Amino acid sequence: MTETRKLFTPITIGSIELSHRVVMAPLTRMRADVPGDVPNALMLEYYTQRASQGGLIISEATAISITGRGYLGAPGIYSDAQVAGWRRITDAVHTKGGKIVLQLWHVGRTSHVDMTGGALPVSASEGVPYEGMAYTQDGWVPVTPNRALKVEEIPTLLDEYRAAARRAKEAGFDGVELHAGNGYLLDQFLQNGTNRRTDQYGGSPENRVRLLLEVLEQVLSVWSNERVGVRISPSSHFNGMSDTDPKLLFDYLAETLNRFSLAYLHIIEPRVSGNTEVAEGLPVVASRELRKMFHGRILSAGGFDGGSAEEALQADDADAVVFGRFFIANPDLPRRIQEGLPLNPYDRNTFYGGDAHGYIDYPVYEAVTV
Ligand SMILES: Cc1cc2nc3c(=O)[nH]c(=O)nc-3n(C[C@H](O)[C@H](O)[C@H](O)COP(=O)(O)O)c2cc1C
Repeated sequence: MTETRKLFTPITIGSIELSHRVVMAPLTRMRADVPGDVPNALMLEYYTQRASQGGLIISEATAISITGRGYLGAPGIYSDAQVAGWRRITDAVHTKGGKIVLQLWHVGRTSHVDMTGGALPVSASEGVPYEGMAYTQDGWVPVTPNRALKVEEIPTLLDEYRAAARRAKEAGFDGVELHAGNGYLLDQFLQNGTNRRTDQYGGSPENRVRLLLEVLEQVLSVWSNERVGVRISPSSHFNGMSDTDPKLLFDYLAETLNRFSLAYLHIIEPRVSGNTEVAEGLPVVASRELRKMFHGRILSAGGFDGGSAEEALQADDADAVVFGRFFIANPDLPRRIQEGLPLNPYDRNTFYGGDAHGYIDYPVYEAVTV
């Protein structure tokens, strides 16, 4: 179909070769085995359904450590059992000809002592009012008040990221993505609504990106730069985020990332204000602006359908387009977009947690025969 022609042309992202540009977004679904946060047979089925020949999946956010957890049932990548669980998933995706990268996650202040093994959640600065929710064995509960991460604790955090990156390799992923958006730990350091530090990790944009760059260096000691991406959400207020000058910060970050020749920069458009609130139809601002600063591949996410995704590619705002909610409801989304087939509606009630319902029971398209 002419209107989706660029979406269905091949592209190489770093050293990841794809035959189309309909990418599956990282999507927390909270179906891992508890206790242990271990990827299980249900997750295997879910990812296998959504793998496509030459297509890229970005895994759901995956905790690098116990203290990085905030949502019961979200998987981790810090134990041997988790590596084995993920290995079955990466093998299945590869068998279908697809690619899959792991999103590395530390939630920072968005947590509760029941999730962190009793440790207080950490953030860039303490005393910043925050009314977020964590998901524990008691359901959604208000987060535990957090404390500022100490400089002398940063080496341990970096070790955890490096270990997680190494385990991601053992688990057979094609690469890793650093989650530096949506108000989690790295974002809490980036934006000055949450980062009020006066040391070398606070103040100027240069200081606020320092932790992200240090984490990146650890990840790059394990993975080739061509297999590492970074996800950011400039201007998103999700999880209580804000910055007094997001353009200054994210321009600086995008330009600085050029130093590493990464596989990609993954950008959530400002029209996404929460994980599930998207003002569709607004222009693709962030990818277009950051394209001027960042010289590598750009993945753009937030409120796309097949038509607007093709427009973003034609306008050269992005190199590939990332779909979240439509991928939840349409395991065969690339085919549906390519052939202009109708899309299944998604059910918000089954986004987070639960069982097979709303997870692996969305049907693939079948032509109705009379
Ligand atoms: C149920 C759900 C879970 C999500 N989990 C994650 C996540 O784990 N990591 C992340 O970076 N973004 C997460 N997001 C944001 C999506 O990746 C995506 O940016 C957002 O849904 C907007 O894209 P869409 O309009 O195509 O759905 C989540 C969104 C939803 C709806």
